[in-house]
Amino acid sequence: MNAKVLLVGSGAREHALAAALARSKSRPSIFAWMKQRNPGIAALADEVRVNDNYHDVIGFARDCEVGLAIIGPEGPLRYGLADALTMLGIPTVGPTQRLALIETEKSYARILLERYRISGNPKFMVFTTISGVRKYIEENEPVVLKPNGLTGGKGVVVQGEHFSSMTEALAICRQILIKHQAMVIEEKLQGEEFSLQCFCDGTTIIPCPPVQDHKRRLVGDHGLNTGSMGSYTSANHLLPFLKYRELQQATDIVRRTIQALQLETGEPYRGIIYGGFMLTAQGVKLIEFNARFGDPEAINVLALLRTDFLDICRRIACREKYGGLNQLDIRFRGLATVVKYVVPVNYGLPKEQWVATVSDLLQIGDLGKAALYYSSVHSDQAGLHLTKSRAVAVLGMAPELSEAEGIAERAACAIIGAVDHRSDIGTAELIARRVQHMKELRRQ
Ligand code: AMP
Ligand code: GLY
Repeated sequence: MNAKVLLVGSGAREHALAAALARSKSRPSIFAWMKQRNPGIAALADEVRVNDNYHDVIGFARDCEVGLAIIGPEGPLRYGLADALTMLGIPTVGPTQRLALIETEKSYARILLERYRISGNPKFMVFTTISGVRKYIEENEPVVLKPNGLTGGKGVVVQGEHFSSMTEALAICRQILIKHQAMVIEEKLQGEEFSLQCFCDGTTIIPCPPVQDHKRRLVGDHGLNTGSMGSYTSANHLLPFLKYRELQQATDIVRRTIQALQLETGEPYRGIIYGGFMLTAQGVKLIEFNARFGDPEAINVLALLRTDFLDICRRIACREKYGGLNQLDIRFRGLATVVKYVVPVNYGLPKEQWVATVSDLLQIGDLGKAALYYSSVHSDQAGLHLTKSRAVAVLGMAPELSEAEGIAERAACAIIGAVDHRSDIGTAELIARRVQHMKELRRQ
């Protein structure tokens, strides 16, 4: 009988997870639980449940008699879904609620690194009241202000980019403290960012190729932070500004953090661990950890994966039964990838800059060699409609980065509607700027 796999989540990341599962030689049956119907996942699934209450997942998993669960987003991890599914006897790819604190509370990761003397922390301080904030900022500016809890990548406020005066800083801190009860203020790092996603079976971590994400809404890295506008990987599994030795430093930080988590909680981390890093002139620094794949970075690395994804997931969730990841030769194709998100034209823009739109219809033209991943859309007899979130992602994959970029760019342009995308992601020009930026910082 085919394996029955529960997949939780409804974004483009989960569409990529479903596509990777569907490529498995074991041909698993996919049972998809989602908050919002994703047509891409639905097309690959044997059964779909649309609901917005995580408690409903448990009944669905039991009714479908799944033998494995994969949790895509952070919300259900924070809710404790991995704990609940494991209690039902369902091996799960996704850490327990306690382990997911590494993402769900920003201060947790900072304090863990400090306690276990793991390198990579910027200077930081955790605040639960406004007392002492002014003094700390004065002594450490420029700084970054971070809510302690989850914000979908949109909560971080950077001095010099999002605020400049002390009055503004204090007003922002007060707002954050009212909403989140705690915040982290940390040194503003300068450099180039990269994402390192690793498979982890509780003992062994296997890194995927590093990815560079683009959080800013507008071309040239301008505008507000978004969930992400796109990402790329290089064919050599490094990045144009990143040396092998620096990648090893980042991998070491992840490995030591997983060991620290085990010591701290007594629980094995079974899932994906994502380190968001900044390469600085002083070495590799940690920006944040995520307890899941990135969206869209999952699309880049899963498209490159040559090893059977179901096999990897089984070993992550239940190494006792299937054997650990150390017994598997996990390989990735030597190709470059570029992902571009196509978003509603007003997505991530301040209200003053919104433009009036006449229709929310989305038409998908000739995508050429690109692959399409659905994110947030809804469909009816009239066709596909935009929502307020990112609509679809397109992936280009080719031996050269420039070719992958061209494939993704042409596909993004073939998506018609009141939409926008970042035409610069993966282009030679933007990459040369990033390489130059790093060169200048290293010289200083
Ligand atoms: P996060 O939600 O922690 O991933 O942060 C979102 C974005 O804020 C990151 O991708 C960075 O661009 C920026 N950021 C976060 N922390 C820092 C920092 N310490 N220094 C500079 N930029 C930061
Ligand atoms: N792309 C950033 C994230 O998934 O958190």
